[in-house]
Amino acid sequence: MWTCEQVVGASLDVAEVLDLYRASTLAERRPVGDTERFTKMLAGANLVVTARLDGRLIGIARSVTDGSYVTYLSDIAVDVAFQRRGVGRDLIRATQEAAPRAKVVLLSAPAAVDYYPHIGFKRHESAWTLDALG
Ligand SMILES: CC(C)(COP(=O)(O)OP(=O)(O)OC[C@H]1O[C@@H](n2cnc3c(N)ncnc32)[C@H](O)[C@@H]1OP(=O)(O)O)[C@@H](O)C(=O)NCCC(=O)NCCS
Repeated sequence: MWTCEQVVGASLDVAEVLDLYRASTLAERRPVGDTERFTKMLAGANLVVTARLDGRLIGIARSVTDGSYVTYLSDIAVDVAFQRRGVGRDLIRATQEAAPRAKVVLLSAPAAVDYYPHIGFKRHESAWTLDALG
């Protein structure tokens, strides 16, 4: 059985996390070719939960939270070899438990649009994004 734990993003081995992003397919939609930017993504997220099985990193949930009102779930990724076993559900549960009063908000990747309603998320009809300045 895997274990989920909250960790400090900056303490993670960036190469190990990059491998997981690739193994989950999320790397197709994240700036994994820019190690400096990716390292900042890990260090800047203030709520990071990892899932490990016998020490091997098999899942991650990376969020930004105020700890009280809202948790923005930026990325969730599970190694394809370990998907559909409940790892993703556990990562989200651990994310919720780290800030129990906060609502979890996310933008779904195309491949996961059917996943979130399946595990209890409600669709929000007025989500808005503003492109990065550069
Ligand atoms: C999306 C993702 C995190 C789900 O993690 P997971 O560990 O496979 O999901 P779980 O095992 O917790 O799934 C819980 C339930 O949802 C179902 N489910 C999993 N992925 C699903 C999908 N893409 N569409 C619909 N249902 C899905 C599971 O079958 C399971 O159903 P059950 O409880 O009825 O048995 C994982 O598939 C992943 O890393 N995908 C690639 C990266 C990605 O797209 N991330 C999302 C970024 S927004």
